[in-house]
Amino acid sequence: MLVLGFESSCDETGVALVQWQGQAMPTLLSHALYSQIEMHQAFGGVVPELASRDHIRRVLPLTQEVLAKSGCALGDVDVVAYTSGPGLAGALLVGAGVAWALAAALDQPVLGCPYAERPWLRTLLWRLPPQFPFVALLVSGGHTQLMQVDGVGRYALLGETIDDAAGEAFDKSAKLMGLGYPGGPALAAMAEAGDPQAYKLPRPLLGSGNLDFSFAGLKTAVLVQAQKMLAAQAAEDSGSPVLPVQANAGSTQGFERLAPTLRSNLAASTQAAIVDVLVKKSMKALQQTGLKRLVVAGGVGANRSLRAQLNAACAKRGVRVHYPELHLCTDNGAMIAMAAAMRLQSGQQQASTRYAFDVKPRWPLDSL
Ligand code: KG4
Repeated sequence: MLVLGFESSCDETGVALVQWQGQAMPTLLSHALYSQIEMHQAFGGVVPELASRDHIRRVLPLTQEVLAKSGCALGDVDVVAYTSGPGLAGALLVGAGVAWALAAALDQPVLGCPYAERPWLRTLLWRLPPQFPFVALLVSGGHTQLMQVDGVGRYALLGETIDDAAGEAFDKSAKLMGLGYPGGPALAAMAEAGDPQAYKLPRPLLGSGNLDFSFAGLKTAVLVQAQKMLAAQAAEDSGSPVLPVQANAGSTQGFERLAPTLRSNLAASTQAAIVDVLVKKSMKALQQTGLKRLVVAGGVGANRSLRAQLNAACAKRGVRVHYPELHLCTDNGAMIAMAAAMRLQSGQQQASTRYAFDVKPRWPLDSL
């Protein structure tokens, strides 16, 4: 069986071809990806309408590329898969529309799959895939969740953020520090030379007794601290006394002109606050479930400080920790084709030829 998968839920257009036979693990034949990050950078975040229009431009050339790389023809495709949610409604509709139109033209069935399960499925493509069951820490730009994963489609939500995601906390704090989008990697780079204990920033919900997260307050604390630093600098420049700073008063304009040590210290303190909460809650989830395997998924999983601290905490508890292989971090088209193949293979879902479709911009993972 040959599955052609389309992913267009946010700012990347991904297309992939996956093949499987019997009960053997599906294999990835080829994939292609176009990232819109450069286009959205000018706006400091993803502009949904621009994202949808760009998906329209990219999706067919990427499909041709994937077919050419695999040596397969369009007529060889048995099932067409696409991301049906969650994501940006307009962007999702592009992938859905292309998938259904192509399937109708080929007279083949279609399957819509949830994008949100891709981080766990991606682990199956790793050189050393983790075995089920495991605790999964999903830390991306839109999600921060702890899940117990017992198998494909078998997830139990242990805890999640009640407001901002961890990646969002990185991105929003980075923006306050005058760094570009996406801010996570830039803030992490600036933090390298800084002192993580220079500023005391909040660790919300650390003692809440549950596995939920909250990162919205951190952004305000970073804003107030940055403004204090700017006020101190202004007082030093003018020789006048430092004026008290009020939360949300004014902006952080001029932050990039502060001394590099000060900026690095704030970046390091911000990163430490996020990492500290992620590590402690992950350890609590492992203790609660009794599981000895932790799988980290999502873009924030690339953070070196997070990795170092998780490694240390897991080593103490005899827990094996798996991280995303960085070269496979953004092949989301592959994940959708993979998800479709595994859902069909396990009989969990049937592909359809009822040519009418919908998308689900919101789709909680534990309801899949
Ligand atoms: O999972 P992902 O690639 O995309 C989705 O959200 O779907 O995650 C992107 C997030 C962004 O918020 C980005 O700033 C963050 O991951 N990120 C990082 C690092 N690399 C990416 N955050 C902290 N440190 C990093 N090295």
